[in-house]
Amino acid sequence: MTEADLSPGGKKRILTGIRPTGALHLGHYAGALENWVKLQHEYDAYFLIADYQVSDYADDIARVRESVWEVALDFLAVGLDPEGSSYVIESLVPEHAELTTLLGWFLPVSMLERNPTLKAEMEAIEHPEDGQKEGKSVPVAFYTYPVMQVANILMPRAHLVPVGEDQLPHIELTRETARRFNRRFKPVFPEPEALVGRVARLVGTDGNAKMSKSRNNAIYLKDDAATVAKKIKGMYAGPPRGMNEPGKVDENPIFLYLEAFHTNQAEVQDLKARYESTGVGNAELKAKLTEALNGLLEPIRERRQQYAQNMTRVKEALEAGTKRERAIACETMAQVRDALDLNYLAKY
Ligand code: TRP
Repeated sequence: MTEADLSPGGKKRILTGIRPTGALHLGHYAGALENWVKLQHEYDAYFLIADYQVSDYADDIARVRESVWEVALDFLAVGLDPEGSSYVIESLVPEHAELTTLLGWFLPVSMLERNPTLKAEMEAIEHPEDGQKEGKSVPVAFYTYPVMQVANILMPRAHLVPVGEDQLPHIELTRETARRFNRRFKPVFPEPEALVGRVARLVGTDGNAKMSKSRNNAIYLKDDAATVAKKIKGMYAGPPRGMNEPGKVDENPIFLYLEAFHTNQAEVQDLKARYESTGVGNAELKAKLTEALNGLLEPIRERRQQYAQNMTRVKEALEAGTKRERAIACETMAQVRDALDLNYLAKY
Protein backbone atom coordinates (compact mmCIF):
# COMPACT_ATOMS: atom_id res chain seq x y z
CA MET A 1 0.00 0.00 0.00
CA THR A 2 1.70 3.13 -1.19
CA GLU A 3 0.46 6.55 -2.18
CA ALA A 4 0.47 5.19 -5.69
CA ASP A 5 -2.16 2.56 -4.90
CA LEU A 6 -4.96 4.57 -6.44
CA SER A 7 -7.47 3.84 -9.17
CA PRO A 8 -7.16 5.30 -12.68
CA GLY A 9 -7.63 9.04 -12.58
CA GLY A 10 -5.78 9.16 -9.24
CA LYS A 11 -8.95 8.30 -7.37
CA LYS A 12 -9.17 6.78 -3.92
CA ARG A 13 -11.65 3.96 -3.47
CA ILE A 14 -14.91 3.59 -1.61
CA LEU A 15 -16.36 0.26 -0.58
CA THR A 16 -19.68 0.23 1.16
CA GLY A 17 -22.64 -2.06 1.19
CA ILE A 18 -26.06 -3.10 2.24
CA ARG A 19 -27.68 -6.45 2.96
CA PRO A 20 -30.42 -7.46 0.54
CA THR A 21 -33.31 -7.88 2.96
CA GLY A 22 -35.86 -5.80 1.02
CA ALA A 23 -36.38 -2.38 -0.51
CA LEU A 24 -34.47 0.56 1.00
CA HIS A 25 -36.02 3.19 3.24
CA LEU A 26 -35.46 6.79 4.32
CA GLY A 27 -33.12 5.70 7.10
CA HIS A 28 -30.79 4.16 4.53
CA TYR A 29 -31.08 7.29 2.45
CA ALA A 30 -30.27 9.89 5.08
CA GLY A 31 -27.73 7.71 6.88
CA ALA A 32 -25.76 6.49 3.89
CA LEU A 33 -27.09 6.60 0.32
CA GLU A 34 -27.09 10.37 0.14
CA ASN A 35 -23.34 10.38 0.86
CA TRP A 36 -22.78 7.65 -1.67
CA VAL A 37 -24.45 9.71 -4.38
CA LYS A 38 -22.44 12.78 -3.41
CA LEU A 39 -19.06 11.01 -3.36
CA GLN A 40 -19.46 8.59 -6.24
CA HIS A 41 -17.58 10.64 -8.80
CA GLU A 42 -14.79 11.82 -6.56
CA TYR A 43 -13.92 8.19 -5.72
CA ASP A 44 -13.73 4.87 -7.51
CA ALA A 45 -16.76 3.50 -5.70
CA TYR A 46 -17.95 -0.07 -5.10
CA PHE A 47 -21.48 -0.57 -3.80
CA LEU A 48 -21.85 -4.06 -2.44
CA ILE A 49 -25.06 -6.05 -2.18
CA ALA A 50 -23.99 -8.30 0.67
CA ASP A 51 -26.02 -11.42 0.03
CA TYR A 52 -23.59 -13.75 1.82
CA GLN A 53 -24.47 -11.84 4.97
CA VAL A 54 -28.22 -12.36 5.00
CA SER A 55 -28.90 -14.84 7.72
CA ASP A 56 -32.24 -15.97 6.35
CA TYR A 57 -30.60 -17.37 3.24
CA ALA A 58 -31.25 -20.87 4.46
CA ASP A 59 -34.94 -20.18 5.15
CA ASP A 60 -35.86 -17.93 2.32
CA ILE A 61 -33.60 -17.85 -0.71
CA ALA A 62 -36.39 -16.53 -2.91
CA ARG A 63 -36.65 -13.43 -0.76
CA VAL A 64 -32.92 -12.78 -0.86
CA ARG A 65 -32.94 -13.12 -4.65
CA GLU A 66 -35.82 -10.73 -5.01
CA SER A 67 -34.18 -8.27 -2.63
CA VAL A 68 -31.01 -8.16 -4.73
CA TRP A 69 -33.11 -6.68 -7.54
CA GLU A 70 -34.97 -4.36 -5.20
CA VAL A 71 -31.72 -2.96 -3.84
CA ALA A 72 -30.22 -2.56 -7.32
CA LEU A 73 -33.36 -0.68 -8.41
CA ASP A 74 -33.09 1.59 -5.39
CA PHE A 75 -29.42 2.26 -6.19
CA LEU A 76 -30.40 3.32 -9.70
CA ALA A 77 -33.37 5.29 -8.43
CA VAL A 78 -31.35 7.45 -6.02
CA GLY A 79 -28.86 8.23 -8.78
CA LEU A 80 -25.86 5.97 -8.22
CA ASP A 81 -24.27 5.88 -11.65
CA PRO A 82 -23.65 2.23 -12.59
CA GLU A 83 -21.00 3.16 -15.12
CA GLY A 84 -18.91 5.56 -13.06
CA SER A 85 -19.25 3.27 -10.03
CA SER A 86 -19.66 -0.47 -9.51
CA TYR A 87 -22.67 -2.38 -8.22
CA VAL A 88 -21.38 -5.67 -6.82
CA ILE A 89 -23.14 -8.91 -5.88
CA GLU A 90 -21.03 -10.25 -3.04
CA SER A 91 -21.37 -13.98 -3.67
CA LEU A 92 -20.41 -13.58 -7.31
CA VAL A 93 -16.99 -12.45 -6.12
CA PRO A 94 -16.07 -15.61 -4.21
CA GLU A 95 -12.72 -14.05 -3.25
CA HIS A 96 -14.73 -12.50 -0.39
CA ALA A 97 -15.13 -15.98 1.07
CA GLU A 98 -11.46 -16.77 0.60
CA LEU A 99 -10.26 -13.59 2.27
CA THR A 100 -12.69 -14.17 5.14
CA THR A 101 -11.06 -17.55 5.76
CA LEU A 102 -7.54 -16.14 5.67
CA LEU A 103 -8.37 -13.20 7.95
CA GLY A 104 -9.91 -15.65 10.39
CA TRP A 105 -6.36 -16.67 11.29
CA PHE A 106 -5.53 -13.27 12.66
CA LEU A 107 -8.66 -12.12 14.41
CA PRO A 108 -9.15 -13.31 17.97
CA VAL A 109 -12.65 -14.44 18.90
CA SER A 110 -12.58 -11.94 21.77
CA MET A 111 -12.48 -9.12 19.23
CA LEU A 112 -15.79 -10.31 17.79
CA GLU A 113 -17.32 -10.82 21.19
CA ARG A 114 -16.60 -7.20 22.05
CA ASN A 115 -18.46 -5.91 18.98
CA PRO A 116 -21.60 -4.18 20.33
CA THR A 117 -23.50 -4.29 17.04
CA LEU A 118 -22.98 -8.03 16.80
CA LYS A 119 -23.98 -8.56 20.41
CA ALA A 120 -27.26 -6.69 19.98
CA GLU A 121 -28.08 -8.53 16.77
CA MET A 122 -27.42 -11.95 18.30
CA GLU A 123 -29.59 -11.09 21.24
CA ALA A 124 -32.38 -10.12 18.81
CA ILE A 125 -32.12 -13.47 17.01
CA GLU A 126 -32.15 -15.55 20.17
CA HIS A 127 -34.67 -13.46 22.08
CA PRO A 128 -36.86 -11.46 19.70
CA GLU A 129 -38.41 -8.36 21.24
CA ASP A 130 -41.87 -9.28 20.12
CA GLY A 131 -42.88 -12.00 22.58
CA GLN A 132 -45.02 -13.68 19.89
CA LYS A 133 -41.96 -14.69 17.89
CA GLU A 134 -39.87 -17.70 18.74
CA GLY A 135 -36.13 -17.28 19.20
CA LYS A 136 -33.75 -19.05 16.81
CA SER A 137 -30.24 -20.31 17.19
CA VAL A 138 -27.50 -18.09 15.80
CA PRO A 139 -25.96 -19.57 12.63
CA VAL A 140 -22.16 -19.87 12.36
CA ALA A 141 -22.29 -17.55 9.34
CA PHE A 142 -23.72 -14.87 11.57
CA TYR A 143 -20.87 -15.18 14.01
CA THR A 144 -18.34 -14.62 11.26
CA TYR A 145 -20.10 -11.91 9.31
CA PRO A 146 -18.04 -9.06 10.79
CA VAL A 147 -14.92 -10.82 9.49
CA MET A 148 -16.56 -11.00 6.10
CA GLN A 149 -17.41 -7.34 6.29
CA VAL A 150 -13.74 -6.64 6.97
CA ALA A 151 -12.90 -8.76 3.93
CA ASN A 152 -15.43 -6.79 1.84
CA ILE A 153 -13.80 -3.49 2.72
CA LEU A 154 -10.24 -4.70 2.31
CA MET A 155 -10.99 -6.48 -0.98
CA PRO A 156 -10.79 -3.41 -3.26
CA ARG A 157 -8.24 -1.88 -0.82
CA ALA A 158 -10.78 0.82 0.07
CA HIS A 159 -9.84 4.17 1.60
CA LEU A 160 -13.30 5.32 2.68
CA VAL A 161 -16.42 3.57 3.97
CA PRO A 162 -19.53 5.75 4.08
CA VAL A 163 -22.05 3.99 6.36
CA GLY A 164 -24.72 4.37 9.01
CA GLU A 165 -23.65 4.89 12.59
CA ASP A 166 -24.41 1.29 13.62
CA GLN A 167 -21.60 0.07 11.33
CA LEU A 168 -18.79 1.95 13.08
CA PRO A 169 -17.57 -1.00 15.20
CA HIS A 170 -17.11 -2.99 11.99
CA ILE A 171 -14.98 -0.25 10.44
CA GLU A 172 -12.85 -0.08 13.57
CA LEU A 173 -12.32 -3.83 13.30
CA THR A 174 -11.30 -3.34 9.68
CA ARG A 175 -8.73 -0.68 10.57
CA GLU A 176 -7.28 -2.88 13.26
CA THR A 177 -7.10 -5.85 10.88
CA ALA A 178 -5.40 -3.77 8.17
CA ARG A 179 -2.83 -2.52 10.69
CA ARG A 180 -2.06 -6.02 11.95
CA PHE A 181 -1.77 -7.47 8.47
CA ASN A 182 0.43 -4.66 7.13
CA ARG A 183 2.73 -4.76 10.13
CA ARG A 184 3.14 -8.50 10.23
CA PHE A 185 3.31 -9.32 6.50
CA LYS A 186 3.40 -6.70 3.76
CA PRO A 187 1.73 -3.30 3.52
CA VAL A 188 -1.17 -4.30 1.29
CA PHE A 189 -4.11 -2.42 2.79
CA PRO A 190 -4.93 1.26 3.39
CA GLU A 191 -6.48 1.91 6.80
CA PRO A 192 -9.99 2.90 5.75
CA GLU A 193 -11.83 5.85 7.26
CA ALA A 194 -15.51 5.71 8.18
CA LEU A 195 -17.92 8.45 7.16
CA VAL A 196 -21.34 8.67 8.79
CA GLY A 197 -24.26 10.34 7.00
CA ARG A 198 -26.04 13.59 7.78
CA VAL A 199 -28.66 11.81 9.90
CA ALA A 200 -26.76 9.20 11.86
CA ARG A 201 -29.89 7.33 12.86
CA LEU A 202 -33.42 8.12 11.74
CA VAL A 203 -36.25 7.41 14.17
CA GLY A 204 -39.08 5.19 12.97
CA THR A 205 -42.58 6.44 12.18
CA ASP A 206 -43.65 4.92 15.52
CA GLY A 207 -41.16 7.07 17.44
CA ASN A 208 -38.83 4.11 18.00
CA ALA A 209 -35.13 4.99 17.97
CA LYS A 210 -34.47 3.29 14.66
CA MET A 211 -36.31 2.97 11.37
CA SER A 212 -36.26 -0.66 10.28
CA LYS A 213 -38.16 -3.08 8.18
CA SER A 214 -38.53 -5.58 11.00
CA ARG A 215 -40.20 -2.98 13.24
CA ASN A 216 -42.61 -2.08 10.48
CA ASN A 217 -41.96 1.61 11.03
CA ALA A 218 -40.30 2.53 7.74
CA ILE A 219 -41.07 4.82 4.83
CA TYR A 220 -39.65 3.23 1.70
CA LEU A 221 -38.03 5.09 -1.16
CA LYS A 222 -40.48 3.35 -3.47
CA ASP A 223 -43.64 4.15 -1.47
CA ASP A 224 -46.11 6.07 -3.62
CA ALA A 225 -47.35 9.54 -2.64
CA ALA A 226 -50.58 8.24 -1.07
CA THR A 227 -48.71 5.64 1.00
CA VAL A 228 -46.27 8.27 2.25
CA ALA A 229 -49.18 10.54 3.22
CA LYS A 230 -50.91 7.69 5.03
CA LYS A 231 -47.80 6.65 6.95
CA ILE A 232 -47.15 10.23 8.03
CA LYS A 233 -50.76 10.61 9.13
CA GLY A 234 -50.30 7.65 11.45
CA MET A 235 -46.93 8.85 12.76
CA TYR A 236 -46.19 9.24 16.42
CA ALA A 237 -46.12 12.98 17.19
CA GLY A 238 -45.29 13.18 20.88
CA PRO A 239 -47.51 13.08 23.97
CA PRO A 240 -51.19 14.01 23.42
CA ARG A 241 -51.96 17.73 23.27
CA GLY A 242 -55.14 19.70 22.91
CA MET A 243 -55.82 21.67 19.70
CA ASN A 244 -53.27 24.50 19.50
CA GLU A 245 -51.81 23.66 22.87
CA PRO A 246 -48.06 24.46 22.87
CA GLY A 247 -45.72 21.47 23.00
CA LYS A 248 -42.05 20.61 23.33
CA VAL A 249 -40.20 20.31 20.05
CA ASP A 250 -37.86 17.61 21.34
CA GLU A 251 -40.78 15.41 22.32
CA ASN A 252 -42.17 15.37 18.80
CA PRO A 253 -40.17 13.29 16.28
CA ILE A 254 -41.96 14.96 13.36
CA PHE A 255 -39.47 17.78 13.90
CA LEU A 256 -36.55 15.39 13.45
CA TYR A 257 -37.98 14.53 10.06
CA LEU A 258 -38.62 18.16 9.16
CA GLU A 259 -35.04 18.98 10.11
CA ALA A 260 -33.78 16.08 8.04
CA PHE A 261 -35.89 16.52 4.93
CA HIS A 262 -37.55 19.94 4.64
CA THR A 263 -35.90 22.10 1.99
CA ASN A 264 -36.67 25.35 3.84
CA GLN A 265 -35.02 25.23 7.25
CA ALA A 266 -36.03 28.82 8.05
CA GLU A 267 -39.62 27.68 7.89
CA VAL A 268 -38.82 24.75 10.19
CA GLN A 269 -37.28 27.17 12.70
CA ASP A 270 -40.43 29.26 12.54
CA LEU A 271 -42.65 26.21 13.08
CA LYS A 272 -40.58 25.20 16.09
CA ALA A 273 -40.89 28.64 17.67
CA ARG A 274 -44.64 28.72 17.11
CA TYR A 275 -45.00 25.14 18.37
CA GLU A 276 -43.50 26.09 21.71
CA SER A 277 -45.31 29.44 22.08
CA THR A 278 -48.81 29.45 20.63
CA GLY A 279 -48.92 25.81 19.50
CA VAL A 280 -49.14 24.23 16.05
CA GLY A 281 -51.51 21.38 15.30
CA ASN A 282 -49.99 18.03 14.34
CA ALA A 283 -52.09 18.03 11.17
CA GLU A 284 -50.23 21.12 9.95
CA LEU A 285 -46.83 19.63 10.78
CA LYS A 286 -47.72 16.40 9.07
CA ALA A 287 -48.97 18.20 5.97
CA LYS A 288 -45.64 20.05 5.72
CA LEU A 289 -43.72 16.82 6.14
CA THR A 290 -45.80 15.00 3.54
CA GLU A 291 -45.10 17.75 1.05
CA ALA A 292 -41.39 17.74 1.82
CA LEU A 293 -41.01 13.98 1.60
CA ASN A 294 -43.04 13.60 -1.54
CA GLY A 295 -40.94 16.36 -3.09
CA LEU A 296 -37.80 14.42 -2.25
CA LEU A 297 -39.14 11.03 -3.26
CA GLU A 298 -40.95 11.89 -6.47
CA PRO A 299 -37.90 11.97 -8.77
CA ILE A 300 -36.57 8.82 -7.06
CA ARG A 301 -39.87 7.02 -7.66
CA GLU A 302 -39.96 8.14 -11.26
CA ARG A 303 -36.49 6.87 -12.00
CA ARG A 304 -37.26 3.61 -10.21
CA GLN A 305 -40.32 3.05 -12.34
CA GLN A 306 -38.39 3.67 -15.52
CA TYR A 307 -35.73 1.15 -14.60
CA ALA A 308 -38.29 -1.37 -13.37
CA GLN A 309 -39.58 -1.47 -16.93
CA ASN A 310 -36.12 -2.21 -18.18
CA MET A 311 -34.70 -4.95 -15.99
CA THR A 312 -32.11 -5.80 -18.63
CA ARG A 313 -30.48 -2.48 -17.82
CA VAL A 314 -30.45 -3.39 -14.11
CA LYS A 315 -28.90 -6.75 -14.88
CA GLU A 316 -26.21 -5.08 -16.99
CA ALA A 317 -25.39 -2.74 -14.12
CA LEU A 318 -24.94 -5.68 -11.74
CA GLU A 319 -22.93 -7.66 -14.24
CA ALA A 320 -20.55 -4.86 -15.17
CA GLY A 321 -19.93 -3.74 -11.59
CA THR A 322 -19.40 -7.26 -10.29
CA LYS A 323 -16.90 -7.87 -13.08
CA ARG A 324 -14.93 -4.73 -12.19
CA GLU A 325 -14.81 -5.69 -8.52
CA ARG A 326 -13.74 -9.21 -9.42
CA ALA A 327 -10.77 -7.82 -11.32
CA ILE A 328 -9.54 -5.76 -8.39
CA ALA A 329 -10.31 -8.66 -6.03
CA CYS A 330 -8.01 -10.93 -8.03
CA GLU A 331 -5.29 -8.30 -7.79
CA THR A 332 -5.70 -8.01 -4.04
CA MET A 333 -5.76 -11.77 -3.50
CA ALA A 334 -2.54 -12.16 -5.48
CA GLN A 335 -0.93 -9.61 -3.15
CA VAL A 336 -2.38 -11.32 -0.09
CA ARG A 337 -1.20 -14.78 -1.12
CA ASP A 338 2.21 -13.36 -1.84
CA ALA A 339 2.33 -11.56 1.52
CA LEU A 340 1.34 -14.76 3.32
CA ASP A 341 3.73 -16.82 1.21
CA LEU A 342 0.97 -19.13 0.04
CA ASN A 343 2.23 -19.61 -3.51
CA TYR A 344 3.41 -23.14 -2.76
CA LEU A 345 3.68 -24.44 -6.28
CA ALA A 346 5.09 -21.31 -7.86
CA LYS A 347 8.07 -21.32 -5.56
CA TYR A 348 9.26 -24.85 -5.68
N1 TRP B 1 -23.35 -4.93 7.53
C1 TRP B 1 -23.87 -3.91 6.68
C2 TRP B 1 -25.36 -3.68 7.03
O1 TRP B 1 -25.94 -4.47 7.71
C3 TRP B 1 -23.79 -4.27 5.23
C4 TRP B 1 -22.38 -4.45 4.75
C5 TRP B 1 -21.82 -5.63 4.35
C6 TRP B 1 -21.37 -3.46 4.62
N2 TRP B 1 -20.56 -5.45 3.96
C7 TRP B 1 -20.23 -4.13 4.10
C8 TRP B 1 -21.31 -2.09 4.89
C9 TRP B 1 -19.02 -3.45 3.88
C10 TRP B 1 -20.11 -1.41 4.65
C11 TRP B 1 -18.99 -2.09 4.15
O2 TRP B 1 -25.92 -2.71 6.60
